[in-house]
Amino acid sequence: STGKGKGKEPLNEPPSFAFAFDIDGVLLHVSKPIPGATETLRFLNDNHIPFILLTNGGGKLEADRVKDLSQKLGVHLTTDNFVQSHTPFRELVDGKDGGLKDKTILVTGSDYEKCRSIMESYGFKNVVTPADILWQHREVFPFGLASDYSDTTPSRPLPRPVHTSTAAHSNDHALKIDAMFVLNDPRDWALDIQVFADLLLSSQGYMGTYSSKNGNLTFPNHGYQQDGQPTLYFSNSDLFWSATWHLPRFGQGAFQAALAGVWDQLTNGTAPLKRHVIGKPFGETYRFAERVLAAHRSDSLILKGHSADVAGEPLRSVYMVGDNPESDIAGANGYKSEVGTSWHSALVKTGVWSAVRDGEKVLKGVKKPTVIVPDVKAAVMWALEREG
Ligand code: G3P
Ligand code: MG
Repeated sequence: STGKGKGKEPLNEPPSFAFAFDIDGVLLHVSKPIPGATETLRFLNDNHIPFILLTNGGGKLEADRVKDLSQKLGVHLTTDNFVQSHTPFRELVDGKDGGLKDKTILVTGSDYEKCRSIMESYGFKNVVTPADILWQHREVFPFGLASDYSDTTPSRPLPRPVHTSTAAHSNDHALKIDAMFVLNDPRDWALDIQVFADLLLSSQGYMGTYSSKNGNLTFPNHGYQQDGQPTLYFSNSDLFWSATWHLPRFGQGAFQAALAGVWDQLTNGTAPLKRHVIGKPFGETYRFAERVLAAHRSDSLILKGHSADVAGEPLRSVYMVGDNPESDIAGANGYKSEVGTSWHSALVKTGVWSAVRDGEKVLKGVKKPTVIVPDVKAAVMWALEREG
C-alpha cells in the first residue's frame, strides 16, 4: 500500500535509502563545521531523507552532545538518530546473565564525572572512577597528577574499602570491580593504566589484592587472566582521528595499545590482553546503529501518516559516509544487515585518510570504499545520483 493518509493529500512513497554519517573528519573538525556539512544535513532534513550520526566519539551524555552538535552545525538534531561509541553499553545493564546493573564498574574517559553520569544514565548503579580510589588512597599513584582530583574533582567515597594489606585476600567487604570501561579518550593515562593494571592483576577484581595467577610468569599458562579479573571494555579502537591539526591525532586505540603494552610486559608477552571492543568497525555497533536508524525512520514516517507496514519496511540501502578506512569503511563494508539492507561506503578526503599520505594502496579488501569523494556533500550527491 502506498500508505495514503485518509482524506489527506496522498503521501509520497518514502525513500528506501538512508545515510549514516561519521562526525569527526566528515561533519566537524573538533567544533569547526567542515564546508558543506551544514547545508547537506539541512537538505536531508528538508527532504525527509533519513540519516543517523554514527560516531566513535563520546564522553558526554547523548543529549548534551546532540545539543552541542545542533549548535555547532546549525542543524536540528535529536538523540533519536545519534549513536556514540559507548551508547551500545546501555545494553549491558540488563544484558545476558543478569547484566551489570547492580555490579560495581570502573569507568574512565576524558572527564571522570561525565563518564560516571553517562553510565548512570544507562542504568548502572555502582560506578567508580580512578579519582574515587585516589581520593581515599592517594598512595595508589605516587606521582603528581594531570588534574588535582583530590581537591577539585567531586569524587565520591568508595562503595567499599580497598584492601591495603597484602596479607588480606579477597573478601566480601572490600571493593570489588566487576567490569572496567573506557568511554572515550582518557586524559590521565598514567593514573588510568596504573589502576586498570592493578585490577587486571588482582584476585577476583578486589582492588589492592594481587593474584599469582595473573601476571606471575611461573604460573602454568602464566599471564592469562585466570582469577576472575574484571571484564575490560573499550568503546572504540581508533588509533587516529581527524581534529583541527593537519595530521591525524591519537584516539582511544592508542590508550588501548599502551595498556596492552604494559600488560605484555607484565606477562612477558605470553598472554594477550583480554578485552571487549565495540564501536566502528565492529558489527555489534553497526547492528545497534541499524536498529536505531530503523526506529527513527519508522517513527518519522508514522508521524507523517504512513501505515505501520510502510513505516516498518526495511531500507534497501544505507550509505555510510566516513573518513577512516579502518573504522567507517571497513565497518560498513563488513556489516551483514539483519534485515537485508545493503550498506555502501563513501570515503571522504576531509579526515584521517589522505590520498597523499596514505594513497589508495591501503584501501584493500574490506577497507576499499564503494566510492572516494572530496567531502560529505559530494558523498550525498553521489548517493542521490545512484538512487535516481
Ligand atoms: O574520539 C573521536 C574519534 O575516535 C573518532 O570519532 O566521529 O570520526 O568516529 P568519529
Ligand atoms: Mg571520523
